[in-house]
Amino acid sequence: MKISGKTRVCAIIGDPVEHSLSPVMHNAAFKKLGLNLVYVAFTVTTKELKDAVLGARSLGLLGLNVTMPHKNAVMRYLDETDSTAKAIGAVNTILNDQGKLIGYNTDGNGAMRALKENGISTDGKKMLILGAGGAAKAIAFQAAREVEELVIVNRTSGKAEKLAEVLRKKFGNKVKGGALSVEVLKEELKTADILVNATSVGMHPDVNMSPVPSDLLRSDLSVMDIIYNPLETKLVADAKSVGAKVVSGLEMLLYQGAIAFEIWTNCPAPVEVMKRAALNKLAEQGVHH
Ligand code: ATR
Repeated sequence: MKISGKTRVCAIIGDPVEHSLSPVMHNAAFKKLGLNLVYVAFTVTTKELKDAVLGARSLGLLGLNVTMPHKNAVMRYLDETDSTAKAIGAVNTILNDQGKLIGYNTDGNGAMRALKENGISTDGKKMLILGAGGAAKAIAFQAAREVEELVIVNRTSGKAEKLAEVLRKKFGNKVKGGALSVEVLKEELKTADILVNATSVGMHPDVNMSPVPSDLLRSDLSVMDIIYNPLETKLVADAKSVGAKVVSGLEMLLYQGAIAFEIWTNCPAPVEVMKRAALNKLAEQGVHH
């Protein structure tokens, strides 16, 4: 790409950020569309967060992605935060709209779009989410708008119950919380249409672990994992082998990025190009199927 006096910058801020896939994904998309934009990664510690955000405004950066550990703390330095990000209590995308910094959360939307782009509709469905951490919360807030029934289960069941309680206030009794146990999984999976793993179980190096015993999976269940290292988790492989529809963690990463891209540029994201760039980068890092 040609950098000129008019080139604008997008960046990811967090600590650590050097292994992020976002720079290659977004730069590939900027190049494909011939946009005069460049995307870089900045390591920003908690102590430096305020200066970094104010600096981004002063320097006229177009957009930021925000990752660990700043997704919550960054909100206090923004001019506006959209209602979903506010409800989740986390911002992963910032638009600099002519000096006004607006915060968004594209994780939940990204997950829902990943399902839809893979032919899985959420309308009228029962979804079971495993986990109650940051990612689970973002997905649950978006899913609760769309599905007929939402069950959130977590190893620390109190966290799932608390999240379900918050969601019930907004979305009514269709949301339920509970424990991540074999008994509960057995019961809930009898009637679930979509299963989402938002725990870290199965992530490298524990690639032989799955949060769900394989005999509980069915061919008419759709399964999404948010883990992308490995690209195919044991849960996804097990689901595939019983003939279930599967969506890998790379898809959620891809679509949260695609939505951020669209917020910054107002152009439809070239998702295939972004996916190829992310896969190439993962292969470089030694992550394969
Ligand atoms: P993220 O931002 O990726 O969601 P997180 O907020 O640390 O990360 O959440 C991690 C999730 O994985 C939590 O739901 C966690 O369960 P607890 O709340 O009980 O800690 C879940 N998790 C991590 N290791 C787990 C394990 N060995 N078995 C079951 N759940 C696990």
